[in-house]
Amino acid sequence: MSGLFRKKPLHVLLEEAQGDNRLRKVLGPFALTSLGVGAIIGTGIFVLTGIAAHDKAGPALILSFAIAGLACIFAALCYAEFAAMVPVAGSAYTYAYATLGELFAWIIGWDLILEYAVASATVAHGWSHYFQDFIGIFGLHVPPLLARSPFDFHFETGLLTWTGSFLDLPAVVIAAFVTFVLVIGIRESAGINTVMVAIKLVIVLFVIIVGAFYITPKNWIPFAPYGYAGISFFGKTIFGQSGAGGAPIGMVAGAATIFFAYIGFDSISTHAEEAKNPQKDVPIGIITSLVLCTVLYIAVAAVLTGMVPYNKINIDAPVSDAFKQVGLPWAQFLISLGALTGITSVLLVLMLSQPRVLLAMARDGLIPQSFFGAIHDKFRTPWKSTILTGIFVGLLAAFLPLRILAELVNIGTLLAFLMVCSAVLIMRKMHPEAARPFRAPLVPFTPIAGIVLCVLLMFSLPEENWLRLIVWLLIGIIIYFLYGRKHSVLRQQPETDNL
Ligand code: ALA
Repeated sequence: MSGLFRKKPLHVLLEEAQGDNRLRKVLGPFALTSLGVGAIIGTGIFVLTGIAAHDKAGPALILSFAIAGLACIFAALCYAEFAAMVPVAGSAYTYAYATLGELFAWIIGWDLILEYAVASATVAHGWSHYFQDFIGIFGLHVPPLLARSPFDFHFETGLLTWTGSFLDLPAVVIAAFVTFVLVIGIRESAGINTVMVAIKLVIVLFVIIVGAFYITPKNWIPFAPYGYAGISFFGKTIFGQSGAGGAPIGMVAGAATIFFAYIGFDSISTHAEEAKNPQKDVPIGIITSLVLCTVLYIAVAAVLTGMVPYNKINIDAPVSDAFKQVGLPWAQFLISLGALTGITSVLLVLMLSQPRVLLAMARDGLIPQSFFGAIHDKFRTPWKSTILTGIFVGLLAAFLPLRILAELVNIGTLLAFLMVCSAVLIMRKMHPEAARPFRAPLVPFTPIAGIVLCVLLMFSLPEENWLRLIVWLLIGIIIYFLYGRKHSVLRQQPETDNL
């Protein structure tokens, strides 16, 4: 049993980072920050703000963004400490291996699939919404049978209903395209990413600056039509109101939904191995991109809820539709195009991160090394797992609806953040002497505040997400006992206590 909690020594992690079969070191602080912004601004702000404002928070969405942003900033500081300490590709998975032991590391690695691959499927849906919005400007449309996932959540009844569609084809096409780009190589991917990030920043600034002229302050009243809370405990709302289907609603529930918009800053830590100077540049990338996006998000939420009454905000393409509603249809063209570009870059970074976590797990023997550890001779990318990730993302995006996927991603990611915050606390206790090129400030306050906020947001998600998370983790644990435990590289090495 003890082997389950065996920890991977820090010096082993550092030695591994120097070994063969490594990724190319090409990313500087600008490219890393740009990868962060690339992963952050996407479906969350361009699509989920509609659902969150309309169904969960009203104009109090502005505060929802502040709360979710705060939770992420605490977690980001913890990520930054670890990423600088152990600059290898596995991110939270690797940090858990060093502090909590193999079983927890496996659980987090498995959980990160929820964060990266399932988030990619969600993002592909968001892309499809804006694609359809965009071609609609020219009077074109995707055939209804191929326009959406076959079923979706119905807000008024809280039930799942058939949409009359068979699959979301545009979402599948974009997932396939991004997979292709990623197999070709990171240098090219990072270059394309920088251009896309620039475009989306311009569009977000456009939304804030031009939209500000169309704010009608009375749209902000009532400010919190669903209240300020929205916290439930396994299906029982303990603070605030419940909406259709018993899901919590209110400002905090809104924060749990739009938390999705912040996901991605942590993916910078999965690129630590490709960073030229990871100790310094990875913390810079994580923190700069997150703070920048938090400020932009709060401003976009204020503008959007000020432009359109919350109950008239569109839930498919809310940002471009708001401009249409105030009489600026030309802006719809610009915003849809910007959203499409921006969301593509999110997909690029998230789908870049997933194979890197799998690569780290494969090196440890927890999943087959020959497949997940294979690096392409010419492109130097983990091509097999990139293609597998692409297929998984495409299938989920084709058949499962955006809202369900987004909530699953949120609960999974909140769990990962919670583990990273805990791991910082444990590592500081176990190894106060270890070199920390970046130290999270105010420890233990910072990780503890991160843990508390993550738990709060997890409880503000509809109850069924807990069930989905638990089922997912149980499947993972079964796989671990059937495969990972037997093939673990660490288990085949003599036990060492030194870290
Ligand atoms: N934060 C990313 C998005 O909103 C995942 O699309």
